[in-house]
Amino acid sequence: MKAIRGAITVKADTADEIKENVKLLLTEIVEKNGLSIENVVCIMFSNTADIHSFYPAKAAREVGFFNCALFSSLEPEIDNSLPLCIRVMVLAEIEDNPKHIYLKGAADLRKDITEKLNIAIDGPAGSGKSTVSKIISKRFDILYLDTGAMYRACALACVNLGVDCANESAVNAIVDSIDISVKYENKMQRTYLNGTDVSESIRTPKISMLASVVAAHGCIRTKMVDLQRKIAKENSCVLDGRDIGTNVLPHAEFKFFLTASPEIRANRRLAENELKGFKQSFADVLQEIKARDEQDINRKIAPLLKADDAIEISSDKLSEEEVADAICAQIQGKI
Ligand code: DC
Repeated sequence: MKAIRGAITVKADTADEIKENVKLLLTEIVEKNGLSIENVVCIMFSNTADIHSFYPAKAAREVGFFNCALFSSLEPEIDNSLPLCIRVMVLAEIEDNPKHIYLKGAADLRKDITEKLNIAIDGPAGSGKSTVSKIISKRFDILYLDTGAMYRACALACVNLGVDCANESAVNAIVDSIDISVKYENKMQRTYLNGTDVSESIRTPKISMLASVVAAHGCIRTKMVDLQRKIAKENSCVLDGRDIGTNVLPHAEFKFFLTASPEIRANRRLAENELKGFKQSFADVLQEIKARDEQDINRKIAPLLKADDAIEISSDKLSEEEVADAICAQIQGKI
C-alpha cells in the first residue's frame, strides 16, 4: 500500500467550491496514478481552519468514492500558512511510486514536483562535486547532469579532428560539427559525441586538461550552456560544473559551491586515476589541479566563481556523504 499526497486551494469557503475542487484533486490523483476506485483503501483530508462550509470527505463520497474509508480534519490556525487549502492523503494498493498532485495555489507547496527542481553545484576539480551530486540525485530521485563531461566531449572532438583546443578560430570552424548529447541508463549519465558513447574515453588526464582549455571559448560555451539549460528546464536535476550558479541557471533556487585545498583534491584525483589505471605522481596531479584552477578561474567567459547566493561548503574535513547531508538538509528545509 502506498500513500499518495496532494493539495488544492479553493477560491472561497463555499460548498460548491469545495466540492468542485475536491473532485478535481481526486480525479487527477486517480488518473495520474492509474488507480481504480477498488484500489483506494482510505482517503484522509485536512483543511485549513478557514474552510467550514463543507466536509471534503463528504465531497469525496459524492464524487463516487463509496467503499473506502473517508476522514476529514481541520488544521490549527498557523500564521502565514497558505489560506483556503485542502490537503489529502490517499492510501491505495499500487505498485509504482506514487505521483503526488498539488494544484492551483497549493502548487507552491511542492515546487520540486510542480516545477523542475534544479540544484546547482559548482566548484573546482576534485572538490567532490560529482560524487556529492550523484548521492543527491539518488536521494531526490532526480537526474544528475555532469556538465564537465560535455566540455570533455568537446575536447575529444578537437583531438579526433586534429584541432588545437587552444586555437579559438580553429575550434570555431569545427563547432558546428560537434554534436553532444546525454542519455540516461539506469539513471546514470552517458555522454555521446556525434552519436558515439564517449563516457569512458573522456576521463583521461589529457582530456581533463584539454576540456579546461576548450571550455574557455565562447562558441563552445554558448552551445553547451544552451543544451544544459534545455535539460534543466525539462527535468528536475542536480547540475555540477563551474558556472551553473553564476551563468547557466542564475535563478536556480538551490546553489552550492564546494571547495577543498589543492592537496586534498589532488589526493582524491590521484586515487580515482589509479583506479582507472593512470599512473601519475602526486606532484604531477597537484600541478595539473593547480593549472586547471588557474585556467578555469581566469578565463574571460563564465569563469569558475561562487555565486553570491551560493552556500559554500568546504569538504576538507567532511566525507562526501556528509557534504551531501548538509546540502540535502538545506534543500529539505525549503521544499
Ligand atoms: O568537472 P570536470 O573536471 O569534468 O570539467 C572539465 C573541465 O570542463 C573543467 O576544467 C572546466 C570545464 N567546465 C566548465 O568550464 N564549465 C562547466 N560548467 C563544467 C566544466
